[in-house]
Amino acid sequence: MLKYIKNELFMEKVSLLKLAKKYDTPLYVYSKGKIESNFNLYKKSFKSIDSIICYAVKANSNHGILKILANLGAGADVVSGGELYRVLKAGISSQKIVYSGVGKTSSEIEFALKSNILMFNVESFEEVQQINKTAQKLKTKARISFRVNPNVDPHTHKHITTGKFGSKFGIMYEDAFELYMKANKMKNIEIVGIDSHIGSQLLDITPYKLAAEKISKLIDKLEENKINIKYIDIGGGLGIKYTDTDKPQHPLNLRKAVMSIYSKYKNKTIIVEPGRSIVGDAGILLGQVIYRKTTGSKNFIITNVAMNDLIRPALYDSYHNILPVKKTSKNRQIADIVGPICETGDYIAKDRSFPIIEKEEYIAIESAGAYGRAMASQYNSRPRGAELLVDGSKVTVIRKAETIQDLMSKEI
Ligand code: LLP
Repeated sequence: MLKYIKNELFMEKVSLLKLAKKYDTPLYVYSKGKIESNFNLYKKSFKSIDSIICYAVKANSNHGILKILANLGAGADVVSGGELYRVLKAGISSQKIVYSGVGKTSSEIEFALKSNILMFNVESFEEVQQINKTAQKLKTKARISFRVNPNVDPHTHKHITTGKFGSKFGIMYEDAFELYMKANKMKNIEIVGIDSHIGSQLLDITPYKLAAEKISKLIDKLEENKINIKYIDIGGGLGIKYTDTDKPQHPLNLRKAVMSIYSKYKNKTIIVEPGRSIVGDAGILLGQVIYRKTTGSKNFIITNVAMNDLIRPALYDSYHNILPVKKTSKNRQIADIVGPICETGDYIAKDRSFPIIEKEEYIAIESAGAYGRAMASQYNSRPRGAELLVDGSKVTVIRKAETIQDLMSKEI
């Protein structure tokens, strides 16, 4: 996807230097082909079983990207009315939409019921009561699954660990059976599934298997009690390569791990909710060096990309590989690559060995397709950059850059 041609970095057949100059930076650039091949890898890996690949929209919710996935037959995992609105606009079939999240409001629930989504992944008893109430008002039945917290350790960053006790997500494994029985008595609730999402950026497949073993026991108990489970949602979370030592798992390994447990069931559909592994390594963020300076023993490369454009390093201390857009044979130095925001936490890389780079030169931050623009803000009154889609030699603007006037557009 990325390669140097005559010392200049290209995405597919497009020069990133040209894009940076034409569209200005910060600039998010995505490869259409890479998004498609990432999605197709899931499709192929799960083809032999009854399954729906529900893209986790939170990773990147741009309309252009959702359209690509809709065209490939993707479903969606949404967590807000806003995401639901986006996926319907992109043409994703409502019967392939699952709705997760701990705090669905009654108006969001109403919107989802009117849209006839496949199911709600319910995360508390009060939520199922609210869904029942709203469904009653609309004279309909809501299809639900409970998101069960299986208490397994996904061995990932604490901020993106969800399937362990003490996390706000889901219902406790030990409480699940009783809650299912209670929900089963509700007039406007139809139980159709079970769900567990244990975390994000998982590089190990074992936690999925451990979760499946526990969930399977619960399914058996529920079915003995005449609660039929049609959908098993295994969540998302497969990791991507950020560092040289990261070894991401193939979706086929995920299928094999969960099916080693679930293959005993007939007539069930597996739902998988990948986000990062669809778009993460398909996108980069381009920036430009504003100044360089040395204070004491420390070198700083100050760029126009800041924590408002890519918050992952500040929030999770995460590592993103960075490439100079113009390849250089200059010596390397150890430097912090930082943004202009007035916070010490505003950095893209810490103590990074990077070739000596000049003022006004460009950098490309890799693996920024997921949780990049989606988590961007206007902090420090910084307009957000454009988003582009590259397809071979074709470039499409899928979101224009914000202007400084946009910053005040809703202010009175
Ligand atoms: N399903 C549910 C219910 C989720 O909460 C998530 C992510 C996913 C699926 C998709 O997980 P993925 O396949 O993308 O790992 N901002 C963080 C990641 C937060 C993930 C939140 N939930 C980051 O930048 O690392």
